[in-house]
Order: sequence, then structure tokens, then C-alpha cells
Amino acid sequence: MGMKVLIVGGGGREHAIAWAVAKSPKVDKIYCAPGNAGIASVAECVPIGAMEFDKLVDFAKEKQIDLTVVGMDDPLVGGIVDKFEAAGLRVFGPRKNAAILEGSKAFSKDLMKKYHIPTAEYTTVHSPEEAYEYIKTCKYPTVLKADGLALGKGVLICNTYEEAKAGVKELMEDKKFGASGDNVVIEEFMTGREISVLSFVDGKTIKLMASAMDHKRAGDGDTGLNTGGMGNFSPSPFYTPEVDAFCKKYIYQPTVDAMAAEGRPFKGVIFFGLMLTDDGPKVLEYNARFGDPEAQVVLPRLETDIVDVFNACIDGTLDQIDLKFSDQACLCVVLASDGYPVSYKTGFPISGLETFEGKKDEFVFHAGTKFNEKGQIVTNGGRVLAVTALAPTLKEARAKAYAATERISFANKYMRHDIGHAIDEV
Ligand code: AMP
Ligand code: GLY
Repeated sequence: MGMKVLIVGGGGREHAIAWAVAKSPKVDKIYCAPGNAGIASVAECVPIGAMEFDKLVDFAKEKQIDLTVVGMDDPLVGGIVDKFEAAGLRVFGPRKNAAILEGSKAFSKDLMKKYHIPTAEYTTVHSPEEAYEYIKTCKYPTVLKADGLALGKGVLICNTYEEAKAGVKELMEDKKFGASGDNVVIEEFMTGREISVLSFVDGKTIKLMASAMDHKRAGDGDTGLNTGGMGNFSPSPFYTPEVDAFCKKYIYQPTVDAMAAEGRPFKGVIFFGLMLTDDGPKVLEYNARFGDPEAQVVLPRLETDIVDVFNACIDGTLDQIDLKFSDQACLCVVLASDGYPVSYKTGFPISGLETFEGKKDEFVFHAGTKFNEKGQIVTNGGRVLAVTALAPTLKEARAKAYAATERISFANKYMRHDIGHAIDEV
């Protein structure tokens, strides 16, 4: 009998994870909670929310799930892994005491300071009064970060004292992100290129995945509001052997060792958000999960059986895994609903999805889709689809991905037209 795997989440990242798991010859059944219309092509979707821990545990027991993989940050930070472990279930992801690496920016900044991991200078404030006092004297621009999870939107870059004052009010007094703004990290503003590096970690050993480069702003030319990510590509040409060597020495293993030394061994995926500053690479943030859409460009390049990697992370045997990525470049363009990330309409039928069937180098990962009552696949979110292409070079992958976006139509389809613009600067 092959394995039964449950994936928790329902976005483009979870579609990419489910797709990678489906390639494993060890697996013969995949469930996804709650999943989406695209995930339904590789997994049986079950209508249980990612935060319904008791229902998920009951489901995993009833179906005799061999392995559960948690894609999203909220359940990880909320302790889903501890719940599964307490029920004797096998689960991939950090426990609550380790997911705090993403769940609390104050925690992660203090960790980096204590263990001399390069990051921006900062202070943490615990009340609006303390914050207003501090911003009178700090350097500008300055960066305000809500301590807790805020869908990637709790970071405010403030050019002036007036902007910072408004930011403190928004985060700490108006509580725009709820309790996430009870404490705020105020950080030095850094400049440089950003790179995403994902890794597998088993508590002590870390194995890096291929680098990626995200496009967080909604509009062409990196303008407009911050989003979850409008497209990205892998590898990043700016992730040079020198950068890699520096990060290996000062950032990656030191982070894993620091978590272990704190009694919070990290098992799962650590996502290092890095900035290449003039003073060398520095950590912008940690995430305790795969990136979205980083997973959509990194996992198509993974050659090792992902189930073996998940198991090795759980068992503490990652040192025995030979983690391999193909030389192919991968680029993904997110098709969103016009108006994202603020407000947008959904429920529009999507056409052209069948043109990706059977293709080995063009994929369409679903982020926000569902079946309507007529059984049609319709839009169901801000980010709708991630159109992804593999090719020998980044430029070819870009041309292929953009050509493939033309085959998909839905009302209010929106995308950036310059994903991968940095490739032309190399
Ligand atoms: P984070 O959620 O911490 O990654 O922040 C979101 C985005 O804000 C990052 O991807 C950066 O573009 C920007 N950012 C965060 N911290 C800083 C900083 N200290 N200096 C400049 N930009 C930053
Ligand atoms: N794409 C950025 C993230 O997943 O946090």
C-alpha cells in the first residue's frame, strides 16, 4: 500500500506542493483541506478549514493519513503541528515554539541580535507612547513592522516623522492588524536587491533549495501596493557563489543552531528573505513555510522525491538526502483579479485551463479558484492562477510563461507585464 498524504491549505503554494507530492511513486492518495479547483486535479479536496485543528486531526485519524504537510503560516504559528503530534500523527512543519520565527518579528530580531546574524538595526516598542517617543529621534526613512502575522501587509516604510506617526497610530492605536500590532519593531531602512532562499531543516541540518526572486508590488515597475507576490523566478542571477558562501557561514546554519540552542529546534521549511546591501547580505525576515509564489517556481525544479525530503526532516536524517534541482530556469506570472490587493470581484468563469494538460514545462497552479454550481471553474480570490514555465534560460522561461498567459481568459484578469525585469540587468 502506498502512502496517504494530507496537505493543509488551499492556495497556489499548496497546489505546487500537492503537484510535487503527486509525482512521488510512494504516494497513492492525496487529500487537501480545503484545497481549490486546481488542487482537485491531483488531490481529493475536503471542506475543512486550515484553522480547524480538531477536525483535521479527526480526519487524519479516520483516513489513516501517513503524512500531513502544512503549507500555511497561520496554522503553523497557531500550533497545528503540536496538535497532530499529540494525536500520534506524522506531520511536516515546525512546532508552535519554532514557528514563532515567523510569528513574532520581535522574537526573530532578538534571536538574530543574540546570535550575531546580520540584519537591520532595530528596537521593539510595546506601547504607542514608547513608539511616539522613539520616532522623534530615529533616522529616516524608517520601517515599522507589526510584531505578529499580518498577511505580509504589516510593514510600513515611513519617509518622515509625520508618516511614522500615522503608522504608529494605524498599527498600535487603530489596531489595523489586531493584536499583531500590540508590539512593533522599528527598524533601520535598508536598500538593495531582495532574494528569497527556501530551505529544508530537520532540527539540526539545513539543505537549501534553489534561490528565487519575488515581485511584491501590484504594479509594473515595482509600483503600487504590496501584495502576496505577483510573480517570480528561480534561480536569481544575483545569488552569486559569494553571496551563497556568506549566507552559509553567517545566516543559514547559524539560524538553525540558534533555534536549537534556544530549545526550539526547527523542523520544516525556513524561508530566508534576504537583502543584498552594500554591507553584505542581511535578513529582512524569516518565514516558517514555503513562499507563495516561490513554491511555484522552486518545486518544479526539484528532482528529489519531496516525500523522502519531508520524511527526512521529520526523522532528523536530512544529512542523508541528496537534494537536487534541475538546471532549468522557472518563471511564474500571477494572474490576479483586477483591484487586488484592495477589492475585487470574483465568480467569473475561467477558460483555457485545458491547454496546460499533459505539458511537462508549462503549468497553471491555482491560487484562488473554485467550482461553481454548474461545475465550471471560476475565480475565487485576489490571486487566481500562477502560470509557470520551465526553460533552459530565464529569458526563455519568461517568454514561454507570458505566451501561456494569453491562453487563459476570465473577466477582470490582471497581471504585471514585467515579471523578471531584473534578468535584463544582468
Ligand atoms: P517583510 O514582511 O519583513 O519581508 O517586509 C516586506 C517588505 O518590506 C520586504 O520584502 C521589503 O521590500 C520591505 N522591507 C522590510 N524591511 C525592510 C527594511 N529594513 N528596509 C527596507 N525595506 C524593508
Ligand atoms: N512571496 C512571499 C511570501 O510567501 O511570503
